[in-house]
Amino acid sequence: MNRDHPAIHPFTIGRTPQLILGPAARNGLADMLKAAGVARIGVITGSRSFRGSAAWQELQSRLAEARVQWKDFAISGEPSPSFVDRVSAGLRGIEAQAVVAIGGGSAIDAAKAAAAGYYLEGSIKDYLEGVGTRSPDGRSLPLYALPTTAGTGTEATKNAVLSEIGPAGFKKSLRHDNYIPVAAIIDPELALGCPPSVTAASGMDALTQLIEPYVSTGATPLTDAMAESGLLWAGRCLERAVLNGSDISARTGMAYAAYLSGICLANAGLGIVHGAASPAGAAREIPHGVFCGTLLAVALRYSLEQLDAENPQHAIARRKYARAAVLLTGEDHGTVEGNCAALVEELERLTEVIGVPRLAAFGFDAETVRTVAAGTAGKSHPVEIDAAAVEAMLLERL
Ligand SMILES: [Fe+2]
Repeated sequence: MNRDHPAIHPFTIGRTPQLILGPAARNGLADMLKAAGVARIGVITGSRSFRGSAAWQELQSRLAEARVQWKDFAISGEPSPSFVDRVSAGLRGIEAQAVVAIGGGSAIDAAKAAAAGYYLEGSIKDYLEGVGTRSPDGRSLPLYALPTTAGTGTEATKNAVLSEIGPAGFKKSLRHDNYIPVAAIIDPELALGCPPSVTAASGMDALTQLIEPYVSTGATPLTDAMAESGLLWAGRCLERAVLNGSDISARTGMAYAAYLSGICLANAGLGIVHGAASPAGAAREIPHGVFCGTLLAVALRYSLEQLDAENPQHAIARRKYARAAVLLTGEDHGTVEGNCAALVEELERLTEVIGVPRLAAFGFDAETVRTVAAGTAGKSHPVEIDAAAVEAMLLERL
Protein backbone atom coordinates (compact mmCIF):
# COMPACT_ATOMS: atom_id res chain seq x y z
CA MET A 1 0.00 0.00 0.00
CA ASN A 2 3.02 2.34 0.33
CA ARG A 3 2.85 3.49 -3.26
CA ASP A 4 -0.69 4.80 -2.58
CA HIS A 5 0.57 7.29 -0.03
CA PRO A 6 3.82 8.87 -1.21
CA ALA A 7 3.35 11.56 1.46
CA ILE A 8 1.51 11.92 4.74
CA HIS A 9 -0.84 14.88 4.65
CA PRO A 10 -1.46 16.79 7.88
CA PHE A 11 -4.17 15.20 10.00
CA THR A 12 -5.71 15.22 13.44
CA ILE A 13 -6.91 12.38 15.62
CA GLY A 14 -9.24 13.33 18.46
CA ARG A 15 -8.87 12.18 22.04
CA THR A 16 -9.65 8.52 22.60
CA PRO A 17 -11.09 7.12 25.83
CA GLN A 18 -9.01 5.24 28.33
CA LEU A 19 -9.52 1.66 27.15
CA ILE A 20 -9.93 -1.31 29.46
CA LEU A 21 -10.70 -4.36 27.33
CA GLY A 22 -11.11 -7.97 28.34
CA PRO A 23 -13.28 -10.44 30.21
CA ALA A 24 -14.32 -9.09 33.67
CA ALA A 25 -13.11 -5.56 32.80
CA ARG A 26 -16.37 -4.28 34.34
CA ASN A 27 -15.14 -5.21 37.82
CA GLY A 28 -12.72 -2.27 37.86
CA LEU A 29 -15.45 0.37 37.39
CA ALA A 30 -16.32 1.06 41.04
CA ASP A 31 -12.68 1.54 41.99
CA MET A 32 -12.10 3.82 38.99
CA LEU A 33 -14.99 6.01 40.12
CA LYS A 34 -13.72 6.04 43.69
CA ALA A 35 -10.20 6.95 42.55
CA ALA A 36 -11.68 9.83 40.52
CA GLY A 37 -13.41 11.13 43.65
CA VAL A 38 -16.89 10.40 42.30
CA ALA A 39 -19.53 9.79 44.96
CA ARG A 40 -22.83 10.12 42.98
CA ILE A 41 -23.56 8.76 39.53
CA GLY A 42 -26.39 8.17 37.11
CA VAL A 43 -26.43 4.70 35.53
CA ILE A 44 -28.20 4.30 32.20
CA THR A 45 -28.83 0.70 31.25
CA GLY A 46 -30.31 -0.71 28.10
CA SER A 47 -31.27 -4.32 27.86
CA ARG A 48 -33.81 -5.76 30.22
CA SER A 49 -31.64 -8.89 30.27
CA PHE A 50 -28.78 -6.94 31.85
CA ARG A 51 -31.02 -5.59 34.60
CA GLY A 52 -31.98 -9.15 35.46
CA SER A 53 -28.38 -10.39 35.41
CA ALA A 54 -25.93 -11.36 38.11
CA ALA A 55 -23.53 -8.80 36.61
CA TRP A 56 -25.92 -5.96 37.52
CA GLN A 57 -26.32 -7.27 41.09
CA GLU A 58 -22.56 -7.59 41.40
CA LEU A 59 -21.95 -4.09 40.04
CA GLN A 60 -24.41 -2.62 42.55
CA SER A 61 -22.58 -4.34 45.43
CA ARG A 62 -19.25 -3.04 44.18
CA LEU A 63 -20.63 0.51 43.92
CA ALA A 64 -22.03 0.27 47.44
CA GLU A 65 -18.69 -1.05 48.72
CA ALA A 66 -16.90 1.88 47.07
CA ARG A 67 -19.48 4.25 48.67
CA VAL A 68 -20.71 5.44 45.29
CA GLN A 69 -24.43 6.33 45.28
CA TRP A 70 -26.37 5.81 42.08
CA LYS A 71 -29.70 6.46 40.42
CA ASP A 72 -30.51 4.21 37.51
CA PHE A 73 -32.47 4.84 34.34
CA ALA A 74 -33.58 2.24 31.79
CA ILE A 75 -34.00 2.88 28.09
CA SER A 76 -35.93 0.73 25.65
CA GLY A 77 -35.61 1.40 21.94
CA GLU A 78 -33.60 4.26 20.49
CA PRO A 79 -33.09 7.48 22.48
CA SER A 80 -35.44 10.41 21.89
CA PRO A 81 -34.84 13.99 23.03
CA SER A 82 -37.68 13.74 25.56
CA PHE A 83 -36.11 10.65 27.19
CA VAL A 84 -32.73 12.40 27.35
CA ASP A 85 -34.29 15.51 28.91
CA ARG A 86 -35.87 13.35 31.62
CA VAL A 87 -32.54 11.67 32.40
CA SER A 88 -30.70 15.03 32.51
CA ALA A 89 -33.27 16.32 34.99
CA GLY A 90 -32.82 13.16 37.08
CA LEU A 91 -29.03 13.63 37.04
CA ARG A 92 -29.42 17.23 38.20
CA GLY A 93 -31.78 16.01 40.91
CA ILE A 94 -29.03 13.90 42.51
CA GLU A 95 -26.21 16.31 41.63
CA ALA A 96 -24.50 13.52 39.73
CA GLN A 97 -20.76 13.78 39.27
CA ALA A 98 -20.45 11.18 36.50
CA VAL A 99 -22.56 9.01 34.24
CA VAL A 100 -22.16 5.30 33.58
CA ALA A 101 -23.74 3.72 30.50
CA ILE A 102 -24.18 -0.04 30.27
CA GLY A 103 -25.88 -1.22 27.12
CA GLY A 104 -25.89 -1.03 23.35
CA GLY A 105 -25.52 2.09 21.24
CA SER A 106 -28.89 3.44 22.37
CA ALA A 107 -28.03 3.38 26.07
CA ILE A 108 -24.58 4.87 25.53
CA ASP A 109 -25.90 7.60 23.22
CA ALA A 110 -28.69 8.44 25.67
CA ALA A 111 -26.15 8.66 28.49
CA LYS A 112 -23.78 10.77 26.38
CA ALA A 113 -26.53 13.23 25.54
CA ALA A 114 -27.89 13.29 29.10
CA ALA A 115 -24.39 13.92 30.52
CA ALA A 116 -24.18 16.97 28.23
CA GLY A 117 -27.79 17.96 28.85
CA TYR A 118 -26.98 18.19 32.57
CA TYR A 119 -25.39 21.56 31.80
CA LEU A 120 -27.58 22.78 28.93
CA GLU A 121 -30.58 25.10 29.10
CA GLY A 122 -33.79 24.02 27.39
CA SER A 123 -34.30 20.72 25.58
CA ILE A 124 -31.45 18.69 24.12
CA LYS A 125 -33.41 18.88 20.85
CA ASP A 126 -32.40 22.56 20.55
CA TYR A 127 -28.76 21.46 20.25
CA LEU A 128 -29.11 18.69 17.64
CA GLU A 129 -27.41 19.23 14.29
CA GLY A 130 -29.91 20.15 11.61
CA VAL A 131 -32.78 20.28 14.13
CA GLY A 132 -31.99 22.88 16.80
CA THR A 133 -30.54 26.37 16.52
CA ARG A 134 -28.19 26.33 19.51
CA SER A 135 -24.62 25.01 19.76
CA PRO A 136 -23.58 22.87 22.72
CA ASP A 137 -20.92 24.51 24.93
CA GLY A 138 -18.98 21.29 25.41
CA ARG A 139 -19.51 20.91 29.15
CA SER A 140 -20.45 17.38 30.14
CA LEU A 141 -20.38 15.04 33.09
CA PRO A 142 -17.62 12.44 32.64
CA LEU A 143 -19.01 9.37 30.90
CA TYR A 144 -17.91 5.78 31.53
CA ALA A 145 -19.15 3.56 28.70
CA LEU A 146 -19.64 -0.21 29.04
CA PRO A 147 -20.95 -1.57 25.73
CA THR A 148 -23.00 -4.78 25.82
CA THR A 149 -23.08 -5.12 22.03
CA ALA A 150 -20.19 -4.94 19.58
CA GLY A 151 -21.26 -2.51 16.91
CA THR A 152 -21.84 1.21 17.02
CA GLY A 153 -18.43 2.10 18.48
CA THR A 154 -20.15 4.98 20.28
CA GLU A 155 -17.98 4.23 23.31
CA ALA A 156 -15.18 5.90 21.31
CA THR A 157 -17.01 8.75 19.55
CA LYS A 158 -17.95 12.37 20.19
CA ASN A 159 -21.56 12.21 19.01
CA ALA A 160 -24.85 10.86 20.28
CA VAL A 161 -27.58 10.02 17.78
CA LEU A 162 -31.11 10.91 18.90
CA SER A 163 -34.28 10.38 16.94
CA GLU A 164 -37.96 10.94 16.62
CA ILE A 165 -39.86 8.63 14.29
CA GLY A 166 -42.63 9.72 11.94
CA PRO A 167 -43.47 12.10 9.11
CA ALA A 168 -41.66 14.99 10.84
CA GLY A 169 -39.11 12.54 12.22
CA PHE A 170 -35.37 12.94 12.36
CA LYS A 171 -32.26 11.03 13.36
CA LYS A 172 -29.59 13.56 14.17
CA SER A 173 -26.42 13.99 16.21
CA LEU A 174 -25.48 15.96 19.26
CA ARG A 175 -21.77 16.46 18.78
CA HIS A 176 -18.78 17.97 20.59
CA ASP A 177 -15.16 16.85 20.96
CA ASN A 178 -15.63 16.86 24.75
CA TYR A 179 -18.40 14.26 24.56
CA ILE A 180 -15.93 11.42 23.97
CA PRO A 181 -16.28 9.12 27.01
CA VAL A 182 -13.46 9.33 29.56
CA ALA A 183 -13.28 5.55 29.65
CA ALA A 184 -14.44 2.65 27.50
CA ILE A 185 -14.71 -0.44 29.67
CA ILE A 186 -15.18 -3.16 27.12
CA ASP A 187 -16.06 -6.42 28.80
CA PRO A 188 -17.00 -9.13 26.28
CA GLU A 189 -18.76 -11.06 29.06
CA LEU A 190 -21.43 -8.36 29.00
CA ALA A 191 -22.21 -9.41 25.40
CA LEU A 192 -22.75 -13.08 26.25
CA GLY A 193 -26.53 -12.61 26.52
CA CYS A 194 -26.75 -10.67 23.27
CA PRO A 195 -29.04 -12.62 20.88
CA PRO A 196 -27.74 -13.71 17.45
CA SER A 197 -29.89 -11.19 15.54
CA VAL A 198 -28.47 -8.26 17.56
CA THR A 199 -24.92 -9.64 17.36
CA ALA A 200 -25.33 -9.90 13.58
CA ALA A 201 -26.77 -6.41 13.10
CA SER A 202 -24.31 -4.66 15.38
CA GLY A 203 -21.42 -6.61 13.89
CA MET A 204 -22.42 -5.52 10.38
CA ASP A 205 -22.58 -1.92 11.63
CA ALA A 206 -19.02 -2.24 12.94
CA LEU A 207 -17.92 -3.77 9.65
CA THR A 208 -19.50 -0.88 7.73
CA GLN A 209 -17.77 1.56 10.09
CA LEU A 210 -14.42 -0.04 9.30
CA ILE A 211 -14.83 -0.23 5.51
CA GLU A 212 -16.32 3.26 5.03
CA PRO A 213 -13.62 5.22 6.93
CA TYR A 214 -10.93 3.04 5.28
CA VAL A 215 -11.90 4.15 1.76
CA SER A 216 -13.16 7.58 2.88
CA THR A 217 -11.84 10.81 1.38
CA GLY A 218 -10.95 11.72 4.98
CA ALA A 219 -8.85 8.59 5.62
CA THR A 220 -5.49 9.01 7.39
CA PRO A 221 -2.57 6.58 7.75
CA LEU A 222 -3.46 6.09 11.42
CA THR A 223 -7.16 5.40 10.85
CA ASP A 224 -6.12 3.08 7.99
CA ALA A 225 -3.98 1.08 10.40
CA MET A 226 -6.86 0.83 12.85
CA ALA A 227 -9.38 -0.06 10.14
CA GLU A 228 -7.08 -2.82 8.88
CA SER A 229 -6.69 -4.27 12.35
CA GLY A 230 -10.45 -4.07 12.88
CA LEU A 231 -11.17 -5.78 9.56
CA LEU A 232 -8.77 -8.59 10.42
CA TRP A 233 -10.53 -9.24 13.73
CA ALA A 234 -14.04 -8.79 12.36
CA GLY A 235 -13.17 -11.34 9.67
CA ARG A 236 -12.00 -13.80 12.30
CA CYS A 237 -14.80 -13.25 14.79
CA LEU A 238 -18.10 -11.89 13.42
CA GLU A 239 -19.55 -15.11 12.06
CA ARG A 240 -18.32 -17.09 15.08
CA ALA A 241 -19.88 -14.63 17.54
CA VAL A 242 -23.25 -14.87 15.76
CA LEU A 243 -23.25 -18.65 15.40
CA ASN A 244 -21.98 -19.32 18.93
CA GLY A 245 -22.83 -16.47 21.29
CA SER A 246 -20.91 -18.00 24.18
CA ASP A 247 -17.59 -17.97 22.28
CA ILE A 248 -15.84 -15.41 24.50
CA SER A 249 -12.82 -15.10 22.23
CA ALA A 250 -15.08 -14.24 19.26
CA ARG A 251 -16.95 -11.74 21.46
CA THR A 252 -13.63 -10.16 22.48
CA GLY A 253 -12.45 -9.87 18.87
CA MET A 254 -15.71 -8.22 17.78
CA ALA A 255 -15.69 -5.85 20.76
CA TYR A 256 -12.18 -4.78 19.74
CA ALA A 257 -13.19 -4.34 16.08
CA ALA A 258 -16.24 -2.29 17.09
CA TYR A 259 -14.18 0.00 19.32
CA LEU A 260 -11.75 0.64 16.46
CA SER A 261 -14.67 1.32 14.12
CA GLY A 262 -15.76 4.15 16.42
CA ILE A 263 -12.32 5.79 16.33
CA CYS A 264 -12.17 5.34 12.56
CA LEU A 265 -15.57 6.89 11.86
CA ALA A 266 -14.97 9.80 14.25
CA ASN A 267 -11.68 10.70 12.60
CA ALA A 268 -11.98 9.63 8.96
CA GLY A 269 -15.71 9.95 8.22
CA LEU A 270 -18.30 7.59 6.77
CA GLY A 271 -19.77 6.73 3.38
CA ILE A 272 -22.95 6.18 1.45
CA VAL A 273 -24.43 3.45 3.68
CA HIS A 274 -24.37 5.73 6.71
CA GLY A 275 -25.46 8.59 4.46
CA ALA A 276 -28.67 6.64 3.83
CA ALA A 277 -28.98 5.36 7.41
CA SER A 278 -30.03 8.74 8.85
CA PRO A 279 -33.09 9.32 6.61
CA ALA A 280 -33.93 5.61 6.84
CA GLY A 281 -33.88 5.69 10.63
CA ALA A 282 -36.11 8.76 10.63
CA ALA A 283 -38.59 7.15 8.22
CA ARG A 284 -39.00 3.74 9.81
CA GLU A 285 -38.18 2.05 13.09
CA ILE A 286 -35.30 -0.10 11.87
CA PRO A 287 -32.24 -0.92 13.98
CA HIS A 288 -29.29 1.05 12.64
CA GLY A 289 -27.14 -2.07 12.33
CA VAL A 290 -29.79 -3.94 10.36
CA PHE A 291 -30.05 -1.09 7.89
CA CYS A 292 -26.27 -0.80 7.44
CA GLY A 293 -25.83 -4.56 7.28
CA THR A 294 -28.53 -5.14 4.71
CA LEU A 295 -27.16 -2.40 2.44
CA LEU A 296 -23.40 -2.94 2.81
CA ALA A 297 -22.76 -5.57 0.12
CA VAL A 298 -24.98 -4.01 -2.54
CA ALA A 299 -23.60 -0.51 -1.85
CA LEU A 300 -20.11 -1.88 -2.24
CA ARG A 301 -20.99 -3.47 -5.60
CA TYR A 302 -22.44 -0.17 -6.88
CA SER A 303 -19.43 1.76 -5.60
CA LEU A 304 -16.96 -0.54 -7.35
CA GLU A 305 -18.90 -0.15 -10.61
CA GLN A 306 -18.64 3.65 -10.32
CA LEU A 307 -14.91 3.80 -9.60
CA ASP A 308 -13.00 5.07 -12.62
CA ALA A 309 -9.77 3.18 -13.32
CA GLU A 310 -8.14 6.39 -14.65
CA ASN A 311 -8.82 8.43 -11.51
CA PRO A 312 -5.87 8.15 -9.06
CA GLN A 313 -8.09 8.68 -5.97
CA HIS A 314 -10.45 6.00 -7.20
CA ALA A 315 -7.50 3.68 -7.77
CA ILE A 316 -6.56 4.09 -4.09
CA ALA A 317 -10.12 3.21 -3.07
CA ARG A 318 -10.07 0.10 -5.27
CA ARG A 319 -6.78 -1.06 -3.77
CA LYS A 320 -8.18 -0.52 -0.30
CA TYR A 321 -11.35 -2.48 -1.07
CA ALA A 322 -9.06 -5.23 -2.36
CA ARG A 323 -6.95 -5.15 0.81
CA ALA A 324 -10.13 -5.22 2.92
CA ALA A 325 -11.08 -8.48 1.20
CA VAL A 326 -7.74 -10.06 2.06
CA LEU A 327 -8.02 -9.00 5.71
CA LEU A 328 -11.62 -10.08 6.03
CA THR A 329 -11.37 -13.44 4.29
CA GLY A 330 -7.75 -14.34 5.06
CA GLU A 331 -7.28 -15.19 1.37
CA ASP A 332 -5.49 -13.29 -1.38
CA HIS A 333 -6.93 -13.68 -4.86
CA GLY A 334 -3.81 -12.15 -6.39
CA THR A 335 -5.26 -9.16 -8.23
CA VAL A 336 -7.13 -6.00 -7.24
CA GLU A 337 -10.07 -7.07 -9.44
CA GLY A 338 -10.13 -10.56 -7.97
CA ASN A 339 -10.03 -9.29 -4.40
CA CYS A 340 -12.69 -6.61 -5.01
CA ALA A 341 -15.00 -9.30 -6.40
CA ALA A 342 -14.17 -11.48 -3.40
CA LEU A 343 -15.12 -8.65 -1.03
CA VAL A 344 -18.59 -8.32 -2.58
CA GLU A 345 -19.00 -12.10 -2.51
CA GLU A 346 -17.88 -12.37 1.11
CA LEU A 347 -20.21 -9.60 2.28
CA GLU A 348 -23.14 -11.17 0.39
CA ARG A 349 -22.31 -14.51 1.99
CA LEU A 350 -22.05 -13.01 5.49
CA THR A 351 -25.35 -11.17 5.05
CA GLU A 352 -27.03 -14.51 4.30
CA VAL A 353 -25.21 -16.72 6.81
CA ILE A 354 -25.70 -14.43 9.80
CA GLY A 355 -29.25 -13.63 8.72
CA VAL A 356 -29.46 -9.89 8.16
CA PRO A 357 -33.12 -9.11 7.36
CA ARG A 358 -34.44 -7.19 4.37
CA LEU A 359 -36.04 -3.75 4.44
CA ALA A 360 -39.65 -4.80 3.80
CA ALA A 361 -39.64 -6.52 7.21
CA PHE A 362 -39.51 -3.01 8.73
CA GLY A 363 -42.29 -1.46 6.67
CA PHE A 364 -40.19 -0.06 3.83
CA ASP A 365 -41.91 0.16 0.44
CA ALA A 366 -41.08 1.78 -2.89
CA GLU A 367 -42.24 5.18 -1.64
CA THR A 368 -40.18 5.06 1.58
CA VAL A 369 -37.18 4.02 -0.49
CA ARG A 370 -37.62 7.06 -2.76
CA THR A 371 -37.81 9.39 0.25
CA VAL A 372 -34.73 7.83 1.84
CA ALA A 373 -32.77 8.05 -1.44
CA ALA A 374 -33.69 11.72 -1.82
CA GLY A 375 -32.48 12.45 1.71
CA THR A 376 -29.21 10.51 1.41
CA ALA A 377 -25.93 12.40 1.79
CA GLY A 378 -22.77 10.96 0.25
CA LYS A 379 -20.67 11.90 3.32
CA SER A 380 -17.00 11.05 2.64
CA HIS A 381 -17.68 8.23 0.17
CA PRO A 382 -14.86 7.84 -2.36
CA VAL A 383 -17.19 8.06 -5.36
CA GLU A 384 -20.43 9.90 -6.03
CA ILE A 385 -23.56 7.75 -5.88
CA ASP A 386 -26.63 9.64 -7.10
CA ALA A 387 -30.14 9.40 -5.68
CA ALA A 388 -31.30 7.12 -8.50
CA ALA A 389 -28.52 4.66 -7.71
CA VAL A 390 -29.26 4.80 -3.97
CA GLU A 391 -32.91 4.08 -4.77
CA ALA A 392 -31.91 1.10 -6.94
CA MET A 393 -29.64 -0.24 -4.17
CA LEU A 394 -32.40 0.02 -1.59
CA LEU A 395 -34.91 -1.63 -3.91
CA GLU A 396 -32.54 -4.59 -4.26
CA ARG A 397 -32.76 -5.04 -0.49
CA LEU A 398 -36.49 -4.45 -0.14
FE1 LIG B 1 -23.08 2.91 12.17
